Amino acid sequence: MVFYWYVIVSLVSIMFYYLRPVWYSVYFSYVRPLFKWILRKTTRLCELQRICYGENHGARRSLGVEYSLSHSRRYELQELIKFLNKMAVERKLHGNGLMMSVKGSVDTILLVKKINPTVHVSFVKAISRCIEHIWGYRQLKQEITLLARTQYDAENAEHEEKLLRLWQMLKPDVPLNSRVTKQWQTIGFQGDDPKTDFRGMGILGLDNLLHFASEYPTTAQHVLQHSLHPQYGYAFAIVGINLTSLAYHLFQDDAAKTIVYNSCKSLPSINVFHHFYCYLFYEFDRVWMESKPCVMDFSNVKTKFENNIRSLLSNSSVLLKTDLSIDIV
Ligand SMILES: *[C@@H]1O[C@H](CO)[C@@H](O)[C@H](O)[C@H]1NC(C)=O
Ligand SMILES: *[C@@H]1O[C@H](CO)[C@@H](O)[C@H](O)[C@H]1NC(C)=O
Repeated sequence: MVFYWYVIVSLVSIMFYYLRPVWYSVYFSYVRPLFKWILRKTTRLCELQRICYGENHGARRSLGVEYSLSHSRRYELQELIKFLNKMAVERKLHGNGLMMSVKGSVDTILLVKKINPTVHVSFVKAISRCIEHIWGYRQLKQEITLLARTQYDAENAEHEEKLLRLWQMLKPDVPLNSRVTKQWQTIGFQGDDPKTDFRGMGILGLDNLLHFASEYPTTAQHVLQHSLHPQYGYAFAIVGINLTSLAYHLFQDDAAKTIVYNSCKSLPSINVFHHFYCYLFYEFDRVWMESKPCVMDFSNVKTKFENNIRSLLSNSSVLLKTDLSIDIV
């Protein structure tokens, strides 16, 4: 008897497992539309309106709108998504291009969902901000990728100027003897010319370091002091470039979406990426100094650190810390 039950239960679970694509399609073709239809009839609001009225500005609202739009079966909305994706990839969402895209998108949504804009003024406002969030984030990912692929070029005056400014910000009292010098090692580069150290993350690594050093000079200099600790020290610039790579991946796999949607009022710009990076560096330094590791522990400490950050980011209420000051005792 028990044996038969066992066989039946196994067969049913196998069937469920292998028919997953069927269940998904049943859900998205029949169950979800039916629920949406019932809710629409009872609340007189479409799903997008229920999300915009039900959630405050931030990750929960924008993620809800993103999900709803991406599962829409309406042809007009699917075309709209394709158009916005293209605008984001081509990085045309700014100024006039942004204004026209958002306005056009909202008009399409109002038309398709038969919403009266004079009655639902706050819906129009909310959905506009969500569109800026969703496609601004996609555009930002594209921008970050391009910067990461731009290699540091010693012939490029702009790159050289940034590098020298990084030195001035971190070591305001120490002049650089020459462009190529062992002094670079005192801020954690490997050799006497930093240009090769940027290989992995391109100019994005330098932009991040420079942002940290110029927006949070006191904190950056404290962190640099920690990195020179005789026992627990680490290579400031090299670790910094490694954290650029962490920030980059957290953006690419969308883990950072929550914090970006919660921190930006409208279109996310590269500054939110830089700011997120500063926060990572600040936190990493704190965790590193607290765990009193040796240089060989870098991989372990970093893995643990990354897991903690990921679990923090999975909370849709997560906020970007803006006060990065270090208490000195
Ligand atoms: C950062 O450090 C990790 C762990 O040591 C390593 O696997 C990774 O390749 C490094 N990334 C970069 C860009 O240096
Ligand atoms: C998520 O973050 C909010 C705000 O920081 C906090 O109040 C809440 O406890 C967090 N939730 C979880 C499950 O960690």
